[in-house]
Amino acid sequence: MTKTVRVELAERAYDILIGEGLVERAGELIRPLLKPGRDRVFIVSDDNVARLHGQRLIDGLVAADIRGQMVSVPPGEESKSFVYLDVVLGELIAAGAERDDLIVAFGGGVVGDLTGLAAGLLKRGARFVQIPTTLLAQVDSSVGGKTAINSRAGKNMVGLFHQPALVLADLDVLGTLPVRERSAGLAEVAKYALIDDPAFFDYLEANAAALSQGHKTQLAEAVRVSCSSKARIVAIDETEQAERALLNLGHTFGHALERANEFRPTLLHGEGVAAGMAMAMRYSVKLGLCPGQDAVRAERLLNALGLATRLKDLGGGPYRADELLAHMAHDKKARNGQLTLILSRGIGKAYIERTVMLDTLSEFLEIETGFAS
Ligand code: GLY
Repeated sequence: MTKTVRVELAERAYDILIGEGLVERAGELIRPLLKPGRDRVFIVSDDNVARLHGQRLIDGLVAADIRGQMVSVPPGEESKSFVYLDVVLGELIAAGAERDDLIVAFGGGVVGDLTGLAAGLLKRGARFVQIPTTLLAQVDSSVGGKTAINSRAGKNMVGLFHQPALVLADLDVLGTLPVRERSAGLAEVAKYALIDDPAFFDYLEANAAALSQGHKTQLAEAVRVSCSSKARIVAIDETEQAERALLNLGHTFGHALERANEFRPTLLHGEGVAAGMAMAMRYSVKLGLCPGQDAVRAERLLNALGLATRLKDLGGGPYRADELLAHMAHDKKARNGQLTLILSRGIGKAYIERTVMLDTLSEFLEIETGFAS
């Protein structure tokens, strides 16, 4: 059964459909978005997704008399670059794409971010549809309209807020996802529970084994609750003036861990976020804000979802306290020895702390990295 979550953004409102067989039904679902007389869409994908699922999407479009023209980029973070933005825009324009055409992002977070930005720039802005093919993209990056590429200035430093016109989260495509990628997606799922939803936390605890084994019923529920949560926060604060920052729980620690790996796949984004959320909880305990048992429960859930929560168990590295601190201070533009972090008063009680002291954080990182006790 297909579930619908609405992102309430006035004239930019859109639906997220969650269910099975949505790639096969993509044509009938996308058709209402096409301008009268248009019978084509432009698809941007990566080589892996195109090989595994591309034909099903093309067939699903043809079933509704829509032609799908595919542009494919290499898989991986390297494609989130000016080089591939230029390649994609060049190919779309050469193929005749106009502002009133619809662009379809068919892939994980890299493809979604790159395609959303390309669509936002194409002839000053074309609409686009997200068909996310990883769990992480289904529960996070395909929803909310953040698009970006990486540049010499840093990760996600060049981008636009450009909302999709529709998101199709097809649970069938998750079947080909490697286990490690599934766990990385579950980190972002757990994030919503830790932010403000203790009942969802209980659900995840009770269903952790089924989720980490990829059972569809539980995954469907996890995607639905996650998308509802994200839709609610984005509707309140589309451009991250305040509340949306809660979605960055674990991300400042996590980005520092990712940077220590130079964003190589030795540490996936979700793996960094999981360890980062555990660190944010432990740091909150250290500051006397969060009960220790809540941090332990959070760690146990993440471990049960297949995610490491201690630096000694984490892939990649090495992780040095001074290096992590420098990355965090840079990421959050520390001022007067203080920075903003998402901290926690307990499970489901994340909040924005604007006065985190760098010296206290430094001590904490020394302990975390095993250089002090
Ligand atoms: N992934 C965080 C956000 O969309 O705001």
